[in-house]
Amino acid sequence: MPIAVVREVSPSIAQCELTHVDRQPIDFDRATAQHDEYVRALESLGYRAIRLPALVGHPDAVFVEDCAVVVDEVAVITRPGAASRMGEVASIADALRPHRNLAFIEAPATLDGGDVLRAGRLVRIGRTARTNDEGIAQLRTILEPFGYDVGPAELTGCLHLKTAVTSVAPGILLVNRAWVDPSQFPGFDFVDVDPSEPFAANALLVGDALVLSSAFPRTRARLEARGIHVTTVDATELAKAEGGVTCCSLLFD
Ligand code: GLY
Repeated sequence: MPIAVVREVSPSIAQCELTHVDRQPIDFDRATAQHDEYVRALESLGYRAIRLPALVGHPDAVFVEDCAVVVDEVAVITRPGAASRMGEVASIADALRPHRNLAFIEAPATLDGGDVLRAGRLVRIGRTARTNDEGIAQLRTILEPFGYDVGPAELTGCLHLKTAVTSVAPGILLVNRAWVDPSQFPGFDFVDVDPSEPFAANALLVGDALVLSSAFPRTRARLEARGIHVTTVDATELAKAEGGVTCCSLLFD
């Protein structure tokens, strides 16, 4: 059975890092309930959830995606670009060790998993405030021997590459062109987010299904018009912490 590594919401989530969104009050109970709904959605799609306990001193630790890049051959433990997040990775390494050989991004590199877009053997890495050139180079050195086509991607105006573009079906990317130029992904077809829903580009492909926040009904309609089956979850409280649906899990077989 495929696995979803998730982590309970930290009681300190209100002190999360914010880069491109304004700080608003975050209701911890509501965030926790939404996270539970998200994990149940993954379970209903056939995944076994490994639920890690909250890290009280790490407000952003629910966003486990940033701490590792997991492919069939290896789990790469990242070095997150926000100093407040670097202490999240040790427990992620412990959780992944039984399932994969581990590789590590080392200083001076920084790399957030949210900047790593994978579509088949293609891996594109956002060059951002969180992920530097050395991080891109180290991930390329680790993944290229396994046959991945690894390279950088440029974006602007949002936190991570996967805030701006995600893989939603074989050969199809969901994109917000205001934040990323799709010409960087030749050979793909695109679904554009509805202009009123800029954060909708963060969707989570789970097998043949796609998990999307229920806050984005217009983009959902665009995806369904392309024949993509969409499962929605309420992720509005975690969105106030600048996190989306990809951020809250590490999925692997
Ligand atoms: N609040 C999510 C992050 O900045 O990593």
